[in-house]
Amino acid sequence: MLWHSGFFMPHFIHVVVGARPNQMKAAPLLRALRENSNFEPVLIDTGQHYDHEMAGIFMQQFGMGEPDFSLDVGSGTHGAQTAKILEKYEALLLEKRPTATIVIGDINSTVACALAASKIGVPVVHLEAGLRSKDRTMPEELNRIVTDHLADLLWTPSPDGDENLLRSGIEKSKIVRVGNIMIDTLVAMKPEVEKSLFVKEIPLHNNTYAMVTLHRPSNVDVEVTLEKLLDELLIVSKTMDLIWPLHPRTKSRIESLGRMHELTENSSIHLMGPLGYIDFMNGIMHSQCVITDSGGIQEETTWLGVPCITLRPNTERPITITEGTNILATPETLQYELQEIENKGRMKHHTIEFWDGKTAQRCIKSLELFLKR
Ligand code: UD1
Repeated sequence: MLWHSGFFMPHFIHVVVGARPNQMKAAPLLRALRENSNFEPVLIDTGQHYDHEMAGIFMQQFGMGEPDFSLDVGSGTHGAQTAKILEKYEALLLEKRPTATIVIGDINSTVACALAASKIGVPVVHLEAGLRSKDRTMPEELNRIVTDHLADLLWTPSPDGDENLLRSGIEKSKIVRVGNIMIDTLVAMKPEVEKSLFVKEIPLHNNTYAMVTLHRPSNVDVEVTLEKLLDELLIVSKTMDLIWPLHPRTKSRIESLGRMHELTENSSIHLMGPLGYIDFMNGIMHSQCVITDSGGIQEETTWLGVPCITLRPNTERPITITEGTNILATPETLQYELQEIENKGRMKHHTIEFWDGKTAQRCIKSLELFLKR
């Protein structure tokens, strides 16, 4: 808290969200900041994701309230989108400077807002720092590297995050392991997720089902890869149902291939638009396994003990493989991995330190200490 003209003034803290994976990380932090009289959080939505089912529904379900500022940037090429956010966020910062800006994850909004803030000397805090896939063809990897080098305080979810940062020359004093904030949301929402009737209401043809999510450019923007993935998923659907909420990018790519009818005409494949958190997690929780290329789902399934097949050559979340239930696969090895899961049943997994639902509290303590310094 600051002493100003005879009054205590709380610290104005910007919390930036832009796309779907930010929301489940921002919600617990925002709540903890709101409960602390030292802070006055200001929620900034860049509008990178703009459809209700990609953004608004999460803010509603998590009780985040309306954003204080919306930048309404929408879609665009990476350069154009990042530039628009940079320009619009800088204008906001120049109007009223916050004590600090918290950016989350690895999306274009993360790097753009980190750059805008640090250029004008506003301290930047990066939540979910230190993750590395070591794959520079992923746009998110470039966003992670740049954001981490701009940040003044780096909150990591797991020891590999700390190690990556130290290896890239970032000072130890800036790094604080706070844990995995997405697990705070999962812990808080679990009772509601369990109550959801989402899966019960889906007419399954087989005894088991897999939840499918695919949206990475490397899987859905490359025609031969997407064709192969569709072929493999159609084979899987002969023995297990697939519940598949389609990301807008994936939907348009499948339509361009002219293969959407193969999925819609298959009664074991349940296609739908993007789901809200509660129904989606209900689907994950009861599934035999998850087939995905998402980042966060690797962590959520690890905590829930649900087998997860990640269709990527690498992961920035290796702890989900060493301690959790995650396996990397290619379209070629998908059937083999599914068979392995069927043979083994639910896989053993460990409790990971600080993936305990209390990460937001550790963030607040760290922020208070940081601002005192
Ligand atoms: C972005 C993030 C990615 C994250 C993903 C979650 C970056 C670099 N990528 O990728 O890390 O995992 O979000 O979804 O920041 N679209 C809509 N409605 C929306 C948003 C997008 O229809 O609300 C369409 C866009 O027009 C575009 C496509 O979906 O055609 C892709 O959206 P975009 O935000 O560019 O990237 P994502 O693939 O979602």
